[in-house]
Amino acid sequence: MKYNRCGKSGLLLPQISLGLWHNFGSVDNFDTAECIAVEAFDKGITHYDLANNYGPVPGSAETNFGKILWHNFQGNLRDEIIISTKAGYTMWDGPYGDWGSRKYLLSSLDQSLKRMKVDYVDIFYSHRPDPETPIEETMMALDYAVRSGKALYVGISNYSAEQTSVAVDVLKHLGTPCLIHQAKYSMLERWVENGLLDVLDEKGVGCIAFSPLAQGLLTDKYLNGIPENSRAHNPNGHLKEDEVTEGRIQKLVRLNEIAKNRNQSLAQMALAWLQKDKRITSVLIGASSVRQLNNNIECLQNLDFTQDELNAIEKILA
Ligand SMILES: NC(=O)c1ccc[n+]([C@@H]2O[C@H](COP(=O)([O-])OP(=O)(O)OC[C@H]3O[C@@H](n4cnc5c(N)ncnc54)[C@H](OP(=O)(O)O)[C@@H]3O)[C@@H](O)[C@H]2O)c1
Repeated sequence: MKYNRCGKSGLLLPQISLGLWHNFGSVDNFDTAECIAVEAFDKGITHYDLANNYGPVPGSAETNFGKILWHNFQGNLRDEIIISTKAGYTMWDGPYGDWGSRKYLLSSLDQSLKRMKVDYVDIFYSHRPDPETPIEETMMALDYAVRSGKALYVGISNYSAEQTSVAVDVLKHLGTPCLIHQAKYSMLERWVENGLLDVLDEKGVGCIAFSPLAQGLLTDKYLNGIPENSRAHNPNGHLKEDEVTEGRIQKLVRLNEIAKNRNQSLAQMALAWLQKDKRITSVLIGASSVRQLNNNIECLQNLDFTQDELNAIEKILA
C-alpha cells in the first residue's frame, strides 16, 4: 500500500480506503464485518469511512465499528488509523435530524463519537449540500467541530463544483481548510470529470472516490444476471435490480475482456482505472467478504494502462 497526500494537506491516505456503508450494520454478520476491518488494516488500509446513518439500522455501523475498534485496535493503534464520519442525511425525527444546520451537524457528531466510543474523528464531513441552510452556517459547524477538538479535519461530500468552490473559500476564511471532497466516481459515473476535479486541484483539496465499483456492478458478479448473494438482490442494498440493465451488462462483458487481457479481474481494472488520475487521493471501496477485499487490493499490482487500453475502455464507456 502506498499513501497519497490529501490535496495540499499534511495528511496521507492509503490508495485504497474501506467504507462501512453496507455489511457493517446490525442486520449483518458481525464476525464477517470484524474480519474485513482487521484484514484491511493488516493490508495497510489505514482509513475507515463511516456516516451517522450507516447500518441498517442507522447508527449501527458506527456502533459495530466502535466494538471492532476496541476489540482489535486498542491503545496506540487509534493513532495509526483515520476514521471519518458524516452528517447530512435523515438521522432522527423532527426538524433537527437532517440536512446542514449547525444544530444537526454538531449534535450528530456528538452522537457519532459516543457510538464509536472515541474522543474525536479524524475527518468530519457535511454529507450533502443543504439548499435551505446558508453554506456559511454549515461550514461554521465544520470549523467548530475542529476547534472543539472533536474532529481533526473536515470535508464535504456530494457538493457540485460550484458549491465546492464556495464551501472551500468559506472554510479557508474561517481558518479551517477543507481537506477532502468525497464524490461518487467510477467508470459508470463520471460527473466529477466535468469541473469538480479541476476545482479541487486548483484549491489543493483531495478527492476520495466512493462507490468505485458502482456498488458491485463493475465486478464479475453481474455478468450472468443477478446472483442471490449480491447487493442488488439484498432488500437492504442500495443497488436496485432495475439498475442491472441489459445495456450495462453488455458493457461489463466487454470491459471484462479487457481486464482479462491485463490479467486482472474487472474489479481490479475498475479500481486501477480511477487511480490513473493523480487528483484522486484514494478509492473508497466496500466489501462483503475478506476474499473480495483481498481481490480488490490486488489491483495495486497493476495500475498502468497502455494508450490502446484506455482508448478501448473509452469506446465501451462512451
Ligand atoms: N458520501 C456518500 O454520499 C457516499 C455514498 C455511498 C458510499 N459512500 C462510501 O463509499 C463506500 C463504498 O461504497 P460502495 O460499497 O458502494 O463501494 P463499491 O466498492 O462500489 O461496492 C462495494 C460492493 O461491491 C461488491 N464487491 C466488492 N468487491 C467485489 C469483488 N471483488 N467481486 C465481486 N463483488 C464485489 C460487494 O457487494 P455484494 O457482495 O454485496 O454484492 C461490495 O459490498 C461506502 O462504504 C461509504 O463509505 C459514500
